[in-house]
Amino acid sequence: SGYWVVVPAAGVGKRMGADRPKQYLPLLGRPLLSLTLRNILTWPGLAGVVVAVSEDDAYFPHLAEAKHPQVHRVTGGVERADSVLAALNFLATRESGETPVLVHDAARPCIALEDIEALLRADPVSLLAQPASDTVKSSRADGDRAVVDRTLDRNRIWLAQTPQRAPLGLLHSCLRRGLEQGAAITDEASALELFGHSPQLVPGRRDNLKVTHPSDIVLAETILRLRYA
Ligand code: CTP
Ligand code: MG
Repeated sequence: SGYWVVVPAAGVGKRMGADRPKQYLPLLGRPLLSLTLRNILTWPGLAGVVVAVSEDDAYFPHLAEAKHPQVHRVTGGVERADSVLAALNFLATRESGETPVLVHDAARPCIALEDIEALLRADPVSLLAQPASDTVKSSRADGDRAVVDRTLDRNRIWLAQTPQRAPLGLLHSCLRRGLEQGAAITDEASALELFGHSPQLVPGRRDNLKVTHPSDIVLAETILRLRYA
């Protein structure tokens, strides 16, 4: 019983531009992935965690959490969706299709327990997301510049976060079939949407940021310091 968490952590961190993949950069003196895993390991009802890391990842074995009995390692793939699929392939050999799965980015260490509780109370097919606070423009190219094409209806715009939740069997088949079709799949919800599902949007905290650019490091450290002070 309980749910599994899949953690894609096989990216290279191109936008961060650091000397190593961003999931291994220190935040408050600890590797980012360590903080994310330590956070997940406190969630109530957790059955286990599957972390997808790249094949030649020499950092992961050095994390204290790598030896935790609830933490399992698989080899990720070229795109985030390939990494998630590798973890789901592993889970499909040992869990039933009804098992709830939460997919959570390694790069989101600031996820708060209250958001996990809200997601666990929500629809079995759901995701954390943030209602847009800025006015959102769609663009088109004008020569070498981008210009506004139009302004979207802000009341209908949400920014997808993680975790994203679905039953193992459903998520596995939608992701596998979506990748086979060559669809652009940037999160779990987009794979489910391809096959007619409408995941519930669960309002998440703004501070569940994805550490992406260098300036995100100090933001995440500040959030974590306040949270755990
Ligand atoms: N990820 C993954 N496998 C990939 C690509 C990404 O498991 N082939 C993971 C990342 O490690 C990260 C999460 O998916 O935890 C979200 O991706 P992103 O923030 O884009 O991380 P990177 O792809 O590493 O960063 P960038 O796009 O700047 O290279
Ligand atoms: Mg990426």
